[in-house]
Amino acid sequence: MLFTKFAPSLISLFSLAAYTVAVVMPVRSELESRVYPRATESIQSGSVFTIHNVKADTVVDLSAGDNTTVTGWSLNGGKNQQWTTLWSGESWNFQSVATGLYLGIVGTPGNGTNLTVASTPTAWDIWHDTVNETNYRIFVPNTTVNWDLWGYGDATSGDPITLWGTWSGIHQTWRFVQV
Ligand SMILES: *[C@@H]1O[C@H](CO)[C@@H](O)[C@H](O)[C@H]1NC(C)=O
Ligand SMILES: *[C@@H]1O[C@H](CO)[C@@H](O)[C@H](O)[C@H]1NC(C)=O
Ligand SMILES: *[C@@H]1O[C@H](CO)[C@@H](O)[C@H](O)[C@H]1NC(C)=O
Ligand SMILES: *[C@@H]1O[C@H](CO)[C@@H](O)[C@H](O)[C@H]1NC(C)=O
Ligand SMILES: *[C@@H]1O[C@H](CO)[C@@H](O)[C@H](O)[C@H]1NC(C)=O
Repeated sequence: MLFTKFAPSLISLFSLAAYTVAVVMPVRSELESRVYPRATESIQSGSVFTIHNVKADTVVDLSAGDNTTVTGWSLNGGKNQQWTTLWSGESWNFQSVATGLYLGIVGTPGNGTNLTVASTPTAWDIWHDTVNETNYRIFVPNTTVNWDLWGYGDATSGDPITLWGTWSGIHQTWRFVQV
């Protein structure tokens, strides 16, 4: 009696659970999806990072010499290598801890366009890399161009960071280390 009374509600509980799992469980493509500030992400609005190229292990560096040139440089602990990630509501801005200026581009987005900084924020999309989800790619929103360390990830300090059409090269992927 007790069993028959319980059985249907157990069944509906299980099917509810199965339904919830089916609806809520992220599929692989969603895990790889665009980064926005949610509990499961390490990139949050207002956090400060050094941003390491996965191939070269140099970091995104704002030249202390001119406060404008952005290149890959070996990690030195300087504030000119630290970037605050700020969520605008639909995209990310990167603000220099050293100067308060924002990562942007020189000219129009395309292969070989250099990164620079500007006083007005530039919108960026951050995505998990599809091959290694602990790493990231940073895109001009709604385009296929993402950050690329020039020369297939040349580790020489002062190597330009440009935009380039996405392909499998790991020098287009970046590791965020919170400061
Ligand atoms: C770069 O910016 C910093 C912080 O605003 C400032 O102290 C420094 O003098 C600037 N350097 C140059 C070369 O403009
Ligand atoms: C993913 O990339 C990180 C570096 O950011 C590296 O430590 C790790 O070994 C990589 N994982 C795989 C499976 O290649
Ligand atoms: C990118 O595309 C989405 C969806 O089409 C749109 O909502 C968004 O405003 C676009 N972003 C930019 C920066 O154009
Ligand atoms: C990009 O910057 C590098 C130096 O960092 C410079 O040699 C190159 O001419 C620049 N490219 C463009 C298209 O401005
Ligand atoms: C930009 O680079 C990508 C990847 O290498 C390539 O597929 C694309 O054709 C290039 N675009 C132009 C306009 O050269």
